Amino acid sequence: MKIAVIHGPNLRLLGRREPEVYGTDTLVDVNRMLADLATELDVELETFQSNHEGELVDYVDDVSSRVGGLLINPGAYTHTSIALRDALVGVDLPFVEVHLSNTSGREHFRRRSYLSGVAAGVVYGFGVQSYLLGLRGLVARLGG
Ligand code: DQA
Repeated sequence: MKIAVIHGPNLRLLGRREPEVYGTDTLVDVNRMLADLATELDVELETFQSNHEGELVDYVDDVSSRVGGLLINPGAYTHTSIALRDALVGVDLPFVEVHLSNTSGREHFRRRSYLSGVAAGVVYGFGVQSYLLGLRGLVARLGG
């Protein structure tokens, strides 16, 4: 079984971006930890990062024929993007939304997610562990 891992805007800055909020692991570190877990869970990952909303929408469509589900940290598009929500609903695959930080305890504008209501599950506030817990949840949901 194959799963798409999608990182939204500014996540390529991990490691040097607000480390007090997002930790010191880089995106390469996060992807390596996900790859190790994927091996343990016997699933294959395809990873993508973009800062551009349209590219994320295109990727969701493009990858949908190759994967059984999606793990996504939509970054700031979580709070703004109806287009990304529509794309995820449109491809009709289960997805798990993850966030490194506890978005409920931060600025008010981060409390709304356009994606949570249509996600299979949401994990936030555990740093890199949010991704790993999210992958475990998604694989379980997919029957793996
Ligand atoms: C984030 C939370 C978002 O509000 C923010 O815009 C990000 C990162 C997180 O992982 O905590 O870019 O998705």
